[in-house]
Amino acid sequence: MPTALVILAPGQEEIETTAAIDILRRGKVEVTVAGLEGTDAVVCSRNVSIVPDESLESAASKGPYDMIVLPGGMGGAKANAASSAVKSLLAEQEKADRYIALICAGPLSLISHGIGKGKKVTSHPCIKDDLIKAEYEYSEDRVVVDGKLITSRGPGSAIEWGLALVEQLVGKETADEVRAPLIML
Ligand SMILES: *[C@@H]1O[C@H](CO)[C@@H](O)[C@H](O)[C@H]1NC(C)=O
Repeated sequence: MPTALVILAPGQEEIETTAAIDILRRGKVEVTVAGLEGTDAVVCSRNVSIVPDESLESAASKGPYDMIVLPGGMGGAKANAASSAVKSLLAEQEKADRYIALICAGPLSLISHGIGKGKKVTSHPCIKDDLIKAEYEYSEDRVVVDGKLITSRGPGSAIEWGLALVEQLVGKETADEVRAPLIML
C-alpha cells in the first residue's frame, strides 16, 4: 500500500486538507495526518478543527512516505514554509525522487525550502508573483504535474488535485474508479 503524509498546521485550508485525505484514502493510500505543532486539534482557516493522527515529529520518524502533502490556507502555508522539520522532510523527499504535492498557498514551502527549483508549478493567484520571482515556471492549469511535483490552485480544484495524487501514486485505473462516485462534472 502506498503511503502519504499530510501535514496539518494551524490556519490551513480545511477543504484542501480533507480533500487530499479523503481522496487518497478512497484510492487505498495509507494516509497519516501529522500535526505540525503536535497532537492537539488544529483550528483551520474557517474555524473547523481537525485532529491529527499523530505529531509530525512522531510521523516523520516512521518515514519515508511515498508522498508528502502540503495543503494551502495562508496561515498553515506560512507555518509550513517557516518550519525546519518540513524543510528537512521535503529535502529528503526530493533527493530520493519521491512525490511532493502542494496546493493554493502551499507552494510557499517550495520557495522557502528551496525545493523543485525551475520546475513547472501552479498555485493560488495570491502567490503567483512570488513563484515567478523565485524562477519557477508558472502555469495557470488547475493541476500541474512536473515529475514528482504535483501542484494545484485552490479549494475549487482540490478534488481534481486529489484525483491527480491518486493517479500518480496508484494509477489511472484506480483514479478513475475513485472519480466515478464523486459525481464530478
Ligand atoms: C474564527 O473564530 C474566531 C474566534 O471566535 C473569530 O474571531 C473569527 O472571526 C472566526 N473566523 C471565521 C473565518 O469564522
